[in-house]
Amino acid sequence: MPVTSALPLGAGAARKASSAVTAAAYRGIRAQSEFLCQPLSAEDCAVQSMADASPAKWHLAHTSWFYETFVLEPSLPGYRSFHPQFKVLFNSYYNAVGDKHPRPERGLLSRPALSEVIAYRRHVDAAMDRLLQSQWVQSAEDAGARDAALCALIELGMHHEQQHQELILTDIKHLLSRNPLRPVYRAPAMKTGAASVPALEWLACPERIALAGSDGNGFAFDNELPRHRVFVHGFQIASRLVTNGEYLAFIENGGYRRPELWMSEGWDRVRAQRWQAPLYWEPGGQGWRQFTLDGQRAVDPAEPVCHVSWFEADAYARWTGARLPSEFEWETAVSELENDPVQGNFSDDARYHPAPAVPAAPAVPARTSLPPRLLQAWGDCWEWTSSAYSPYPGFSVTAGAVGEYNGKFMSNQYVLRGGSCATPRSHIRASYRNFFPSAARWQFSGIRLARDQDGAR
Ligand SMILES: [Fe+2]
Repeated sequence: MPVTSALPLGAGAARKASSAVTAAAYRGIRAQSEFLCQPLSAEDCAVQSMADASPAKWHLAHTSWFYETFVLEPSLPGYRSFHPQFKVLFNSYYNAVGDKHPRPERGLLSRPALSEVIAYRRHVDAAMDRLLQSQWVQSAEDAGARDAALCALIELGMHHEQQHQELILTDIKHLLSRNPLRPVYRAPAMKTGAASVPALEWLACPERIALAGSDGNGFAFDNELPRHRVFVHGFQIASRLVTNGEYLAFIENGGYRRPELWMSEGWDRVRAQRWQAPLYWEPGGQGWRQFTLDGQRAVDPAEPVCHVSWFEADAYARWTGARLPSEFEWETAVSELENDPVQGNFSDDARYHPAPAVPAAPAVPARTSLPPRLLQAWGDCWEWTSSAYSPYPGFSVTAGAVGEYNGKFMSNQYVLRGGSCATPRSHIRASYRNFFPSAARWQFSGIRLARDQDGAR
């Protein structure tokens, strides 16, 4: 991934993680990556639209490289690499592993052909199958720390591949959007034109000492650890995401022409790149249109605004007199939900586009003062927070090359929470920390507002 992820921590976490490492789970994740590429031609899979994005073919190869480099070569006796030069071609950013092909030149790799990359995947999958069928991995609950650590690495590889599944969708969307033919990823499938969305409510959260970070149940990246206490002042959080219609009012009020609303660097970006709307929006005779994976269509005012940078989210919030939530405010609010913690519009639903909010089901008895009405917390759009991506107190980088997974990216980025319509549902959790630079717009990133307890910004 360009950025995201991390490692499970410690043998205890690794042993818990091992129960999720099965041949069936591995095969399911591998199959999903290829399923996402089925609508694409070989040419689609080879092209790189910008330095931040990667060709789908590269994603398919790199996710295989990860298992080969960190799992098979060190742990499967007799394993033979598929191609010695793939070690360099498909290394993303691991300096400890050796040289890597320049990221902006991934789109120049017309060879290996897509068919050879698929053959590479089959080679790795066959070897992983042998490893996963072996007794010493299946009995990891009772095995020593080495086996538990191996299971943790395999599980990391599975979550890593899920991250790249999201990138396959976001990168393909960007690529197709740059083609004047406006090709569609698939035939239009999504319904549009919700009549209305629930009114935005402000949900009050009293001040508290909260626990943030992974609770140790199930997989977590290292950047979610250690779990620690944070003091959260009383605050209010919006019950749903900001809609296109609401964001349109910001545009029509001159939001992109008023420097007082913007961070200095954001204003420079607005001027230099002539931003006047979210990425993928274009003015048309009948109003704004937007490019989606289903093709070009009118902007639906009921859908959440998406593909905005942190700068735009911050400026919009300032325009409304509110602000973005901190990542701890977001995590606190979500942890108070009473219902299934992960329900929403994810890539499993194959909509691949944020959906309008629908009213919450009739309230169930609330455990705390926060009612279960935080809509769209899961899926739809990643939610920008006001929190810089930095290490939690006590964070330590894991030994070895996989220690490069997360920690070295903890500069000049902001945290996003909650997953998106391109995220696999099983990949997300309350403590998950995604992160991107403040100008990034090609991810499915949106806006949830917050404000202080007294309603002040
Ligand atoms: Fe990666």
